[in-house]
Amino acid sequence: MAQSYSARSRAIEPFHVMALLARANQLQAAGFDVIHLEIGEPDFTTAAPIVAAGQAALAAGHTRYTAARGLPALREAIAGFYAQRYRLSIDPERILITPGGSGALLLTSALLVDPGKNWLLADPGYPCNRHFLRLIEGAAQLVPVGPEVRYQLTPELIARHWDKDSVGALVASPANPTGTLLHRDELAGLSRALKERGGHLVVDEIYHGLTYGVDASSVLEVDDDAFVLNSFSKYFGMTGWRLGWLVAPPAAVAELEKLAQNLYISAPSMAQHAALACFEPQTLAILEQRRHEFQRRRDYLLPALRELGFKIAVEPEGAFYLYADISAFGGDAFAFCQHFLETEHVAFTPGLDFGRHLASQHVRFAYTQDLPRLQQAVERIARGLKSWRPDAL
Ligand SMILES: Cc1ncc(COP(=O)(O)O)c(C=O)c1O
Repeated sequence: MAQSYSARSRAIEPFHVMALLARANQLQAAGFDVIHLEIGEPDFTTAAPIVAAGQAALAAGHTRYTAARGLPALREAIAGFYAQRYRLSIDPERILITPGGSGALLLTSALLVDPGKNWLLADPGYPCNRHFLRLIEGAAQLVPVGPEVRYQLTPELIARHWDKDSVGALVASPANPTGTLLHRDELAGLSRALKERGGHLVVDEIYHGLTYGVDASSVLEVDDDAFVLNSFSKYFGMTGWRLGWLVAPPAAVAELEKLAQNLYISAPSMAQHAALACFEPQTLAILEQRRHEFQRRRDYLLPALRELGFKIAVEPEGAFYLYADISAFGGDAFAFCQHFLETEHVAFTPGLDFGRHLASQHVRFAYTQDLPRLQQAVERIARGLKSWRPDAL
């Protein structure tokens, strides 16, 4: 039966961690206490003022479609946020509200990539990016990156990997799975490299707000022609509300609006009304507290894992992930993850989910659990390392 499905669908890989998650849930159902460090979403529920705004929106009957570009008031509020956080003046007309950052990625890739054309992407990176490209019959030109470039594309790498079918590059800052940032001068360098080649620069800024000890620069500070993907999922803690946004150059907006009308009509209206509360001082105070909590967790987990022998070559400055090299312990990352799930009931993600480059010797830990739980996880991992036999499988 599967043969009758499209080649584009069959070419898309599932999240490999889902097999582990299914097993984790099975263990949990059998009464085991599983510590989940595999999940890429904040453990905090949506902040109370946002929930209250969502409830009020439902009670007031805001249950219909909105304009395809989104509520004008929300687009203005986002523009206000750029003015306040980045000292940037962004015309709200350039902002489109989307169903998650995923919706922004769908619009942007559909707008910019013809069949057979490619974007350069860092490997390791967020897997859906290459899958979206495959879906629209484009391709991902995966560029292997390591700690020497802080797992990010550079102008030199663009020069080396650009080919006749390349039409752009998609980078993320902070990045998933490595948590590294692209600083303002690095964004400017990438922007120049893309402009020299007539390519588009697309920057995933979905983890903005979740940075520790540094402020993330937006690419819009150095390049008004870049496309920016953003989201209410991570910093604003609204994963399940499915809301994000896109900032596009003015000339692209009408075309993007047409795509939005056709692909999903509008982002969820109740979520858009709820998100209006995101930018109120009382909400931002809650989100900042949560950011500090994530920083405390990173500051605990990073040295604790290093002490156990995990190699984390670059200190992540953002997001909520640690991408660790397990080669000191030997063996394959998927088997390694299975071992810790089965013996110690700690779940984390094998590198395979983020690309090909040295994937079998890396794992990702998400610090989306509170500090006592992370401490418990470290104790269990220390114990599990003693029973790990890389050649046993
Ligand atoms: C790097 C990156 N981009 C985009 C997304 C999509 O998030 P959402 O559609 O919830 O905004 C994620 C989610 O994990 C991500 O890690």
